[in-house]
Amino acid sequence: MRECFELQDTDAGGRIGELTVPRAGVTVETPALLPVINPNLDTISPRRLADEFGAEILITNSYIIYNTDDVRERALSEGLHEVLDFPGAIMTDSGSFQLSEYGEITVTTEEILQFQADIGSDIGTPVDIPTPPDVSREQARDELETTKDRLEIAEGVDVGEMLINAPVQGSTYPDLREEASRHADATDLDVFPVGAVVPLMNDYRYDDMIDVVAAAKRGLGADAPVHLFGAGHPMMFALAVAMGCDLFDSAAYALYARDDRYLTVRGTQHLEDIEYFPCSCPVCIEHSPEEVRSLSNKEREKTLAAHNLHVTFGEIRRIKQAIRAGNLLELVEERARAHPTMLDGYRTLLDHADQLEAADPVSKGAFFYTSHESARRPEVLRHRERLERLSVPDTLFLTEGDSDGPETYEDAWRVKPPFGPFPRALSKSYPLTAEVPDRIDDGALEAAAEGVARLVEENPGTEFGLGHLGWPAAVLEGVPDSVETIDLTKEHR
Ligand code: GUN
Ligand code: ZN
Repeated sequence: MRECFELQDTDAGGRIGELTVPRAGVTVETPALLPVINPNLDTISPRRLADEFGAEILITNSYIIYNTDDVRERALSEGLHEVLDFPGAIMTDSGSFQLSEYGEITVTTEEILQFQADIGSDIGTPVDIPTPPDVSREQARDELETTKDRLEIAEGVDVGEMLINAPVQGSTYPDLREEASRHADATDLDVFPVGAVVPLMNDYRYDDMIDVVAAAKRGLGADAPVHLFGAGHPMMFALAVAMGCDLFDSAAYALYARDDRYLTVRGTQHLEDIEYFPCSCPVCIEHSPEEVRSLSNKEREKTLAAHNLHVTFGEIRRIKQAIRAGNLLELVEERARAHPTMLDGYRTLLDHADQLEAADPVSKGAFFYTSHESARRPEVLRHRERLERLSVPDTLFLTEGDSDGPETYEDAWRVKPPFGPFPRALSKSYPLTAEVPDRIDDGALEAAAEGVARLVEENPGTEFGLGHLGWPAAVLEGVPDSVETIDLTKEHR
């Protein structure tokens, strides 16, 4: 049993958790954002990150420190918390990022982990191999073997109370990702970053990113804190949290600011193109876009970075509140509308509805049907599975309207798109209290028809009737032929 992570609340695959970081003597509430600090640059000081933005944890690169003489000496003698002047938890990465960018580094897992422990890091990282997407299976497998060896080496390094990351690699091969995470979960390492997803995000491949995370999650216990390594754009946080990610690190806030790019939860805008700031953070309240454009390079970068951090932390709070309120998937649906590739990401998430269903709470606030994708949510799936356990009479009418159907039927159940049929007694129970638009779409009707088909299939001895409110022929094709169908809208006329 892993002791550093405790779940407080869940919604779909998302969770609010508490990560205990013993060496820092703090707990970090997740989902959490770790701003990336380059010890050689000072866009926003770590002290400001803590005081002004509420950062509880940050991440910096131990390999850069290791290779910068003055910072290394200070870190070794005074400790990283002193050098950076940060009161929260500090995670350090190894040289793996440099490895993926430049192809070679000159440090071993033992050396760099020992160094991370020596400078006072709270969570250290071995030298994993960040295998990029789409490489050959052989390369992915061979490099994964090396990463697995490094994790085993890391287990043997005496780092005191420092927690250790166990990066999960495996490129875009779901079975390798799952194997990697099973192996990582079986080590006594503590935090589980899903690695080498930066190229996927740079190419807006949110669908592949979700498949990779879903595969990694399958090999990890519910008590495993999961970090999406190198993911810092707030647009995709809700999606990634819904798939089960707990930690994010953002260099984006600073990198984008350097390029005059302004982050929003709907994407990135260039400062040049902004006439009105859509945000109410202190930066956007106090400055007009024109004023920010007229600042010096250095000031403009700092100002934009501050706004970028405000939206980024704001989105994390919004996600936490959505988990508490039980409407995380409604937030994901909203975010999915920001970009077609985000919609692909959400649709891919719904491909894993069965996996999400296992973690989703049995009851929460009202289900809002806000797009035809809602018909594929895990709650709809769970409802259908629950029906399997109910007994049905010999003849049963399923009705979308008020009519209980012809008298030949012993009993009548309700039909509600997208859920399908259920006994009337369940009408007031979750998720059947769902708010569904009056102008229902075919996605919801098709899902309801699937629910009918499933019930019919499960109960071959029962004669079924279906009273529907004008379902189109294409939807009725999903209802088995053995079912007597009555269009109640015509009956009433
Ligand atoms: N930063 C972004 N991706 C990775 C990764 O796969 N491994 C490590 N160690 N750091 C990263
Ligand atoms: Zn702002």
